Amino acid sequence: MEQSIRPRRLRRTASLRKMVRETRLSPESLIWPVFVREGTHIYEEILSLPGQYHYSPDELHRAVRRAKESGVSKMILFGLPARKDEVGTGAWAEDGVVQQGIRAIKAADPDFYVVTDVCMCEYTSHGHCGILCGHEVDNDKTLEVLAKTALSHARAGADMVAPSDMMDGRVEAIREALDEAGFTNVPIMSYAAKYASFFYGPFRDAAGSAPSFGDRRSYQMDWHNGREAMRECALDVLEGADILMVKPAMSYLDLIYQARQRFDLPVAAYSVSGEYAMIKAAAQAGLIDEYGVMCESAVGVFRAGADILITYFAPELAQAIQKGDIG
Ligand code: PBG
Repeated sequence: MEQSIRPRRLRRTASLRKMVRETRLSPESLIWPVFVREGTHIYEEILSLPGQYHYSPDELHRAVRRAKESGVSKMILFGLPARKDEVGTGAWAEDGVVQQGIRAIKAADPDFYVVTDVCMCEYTSHGHCGILCGHEVDNDKTLEVLAKTALSHARAGADMVAPSDMMDGRVEAIREALDEAGFTNVPIMSYAAKYASFFYGPFRDAAGSAPSFGDRRSYQMDWHNGREAMRECALDVLEGADILMVKPAMSYLDLIYQARQRFDLPVAAYSVSGEYAMIKAAAQAGLIDEYGVMCESAVGVFRAGADILITYFAPELAQAIQKGDIG
């Protein structure tokens, strides 16, 4: 039989395939997570995240250089303070580790875009993402400290804040605090649909933020639920979020797709530490091609509908995009 319809016609050459690509990527859409640790002269590889480092504020210029050399222009900063306490005072201290880190990056390059993760778990002695009342995290008390923390980041020069705690009402509380202090131009990227995920393991190791008792299931979402994620997104839109985030990415592509269909705001996806560590470990064991799997999983997230990807592979991906291997 004569075949007249032949999809393979457009797959014949690399040039044709590139012409008909449906998903285009740009290094501008990537955000690189970076860990700043209190102290000086610290530049240490993180065991649970091979290829990622702890930097003290005075060494952060190395990360800025690595980012810029590969074409990445944005970071999201996480802090490891020297001391922790019951209420996470270090999170909003004027000379806190993230605040120092922001100033260090801006000193290295005033135009480098700095997003900050706003959460309490790295700063509290118990490792939970808020203020405790007995063994429970008190939602409304936590809102106050989150707002103070976001404000102190903005004062230190952060370009954008990203609350990751999952308290109800935090976007509104943070927006109010920022606006009252005149930071009306600082956007909020909300971790809107953030799940109580097993994929955060390597991060908690890297950030020293595992809870000392219990787990995060009373504030982060149950991964059986998808409609609830859309409800969380809708609430954050009403509260004034500028960007909605879905986290993790790989096991949550359906939600990235749905969020893209339902909301007009930019959608970000966070490909988390466990996703990165699994690719690294499988490649290390000789089971997969690291570069190929990195490229394919990143493209999948954008194909699902993400506008922005937060990933530990940001520098390598930016280079892959520029080489024309993807995007
Ligand atoms: C802080 C926070 C976490 C991550 C981002 N912000 C850890 C957690 O919620 O326990 C995870 C990031 C990753 O795994 O790469 N709340």
